[in-house]
Amino acid sequence: MYAAFRSVGAYVPQKILTNNDLAKMVDTSDEWITKRTGIKERHICAENENTSDMGVKAAELAIERSGLQKDEIDMVVCATITPDYFCMPSTAAIISDKLGLKPVTAFDISAACTGFVYAVAVARAFIESGMKKNVLIIGSEKLSAITDFTDRTTCVLFGDGAGAAVMSATNDKKEAIIDIHTAADGSYADFLMTPACGTGNPHQADLEQEAAFIKMRGNETFKVAVRTLTKDVVQILEKNNISQNDITHFIPHQANYRIIKAVGDALKLKDEQVVLTVHKYGNTSGASIPMAMNDLYENGKLKAGDLMLLDAFGGGLTWGSALVPFAGKK
Ligand code: ACO
Repeated sequence: MYAAFRSVGAYVPQKILTNNDLAKMVDTSDEWITKRTGIKERHICAENENTSDMGVKAAELAIERSGLQKDEIDMVVCATITPDYFCMPSTAAIISDKLGLKPVTAFDISAACTGFVYAVAVARAFIESGMKKNVLIIGSEKLSAITDFTDRTTCVLFGDGAGAAVMSATNDKKEAIIDIHTAADGSYADFLMTPACGTGNPHQADLEQEAAFIKMRGNETFKVAVRTLTKDVVQILEKNNISQNDITHFIPHQANYRIIKAVGDALKLKDEQVVLTVHKYGNTSGASIPMAMNDLYENGKLKAGDLMLLDAFGGGLTWGSALVPFAGKK
């Protein structure tokens, strides 16, 4: 039994926050943000709009486009670092209920910006082992809820949104996910973290409210990201004897245009192979890859048989890459 990647959907909140809007809030400029990150604007949730609400909207599209009925879904996995509730219940359980699914296995994955690649890996393992047949995977993030809008080094980077996909069992090897690599190195944990809201800090009661916001050692993270991702994507192609010319779409995590460009150049990819949405959505962590994939799909550029190369890097530090043929509707 193989795992096929059938469909994609996404949702972005209505409200747009531009670089010029941010320049009125902190000491920054459209020029700095554009030059250093490639970001021009990002979408921000309404106050009463939660991670699960966005996930549901993305999931409805993905299910509709998969050719499957809702009651055929037997597992839901949600990659998020901004769950509706920090301890329980899982956002995946809430999404399953809001979608009206019959009782299914449902759980969240915490791998920050690499979360969607981890979700693909987990869904593939469940399907290939025969434990599940049709898995809904979601990346949904309300990063605005953990962003310090007085800190110019982080608030210009992040946005809100959700993406989802349906993966299902197939006997057809041509549809099968080719390979996935996932990794983490916790010795870099303090490069990117939210110091509050967990048991990791013995002085929780003394922490200021800002400790609940994202703290990032941006420049150091940038260097590890470029080095690690370049090595990772070269390795996955070599291991599977696949040339860069065979890649139809390189769909990287959308954190920074300069990281994407460095990895794309290392692989000698043509511009038309590289999918870019960072300019309009910013960094939406675990949601960024399926959101970028959905853009491609809605522009009529993602066709059954296309080979996608995914790569991601984020808090943990975590990283991963995947070679995924787009199988299309069942
Ligand atoms: N506007 C103006 N100036 C700024 C801003 C801003 N918004 N932010 C920082 N600066 C200043 C700094 O203070 C610094 O000034 P100094 O030289 O006087 O000290 C200068 O700009 C350069 O700062 P750097 O941090 O060195 O800038 P860099 O080129 O590294 O860009 C950035 C910063 C965009 C954060 C980049 O390092 C980056 O993208 N890092 C990787 C992010 C990433 O991939 N994270 C992983 C995924 S996220 C997740 O998992 C949730």
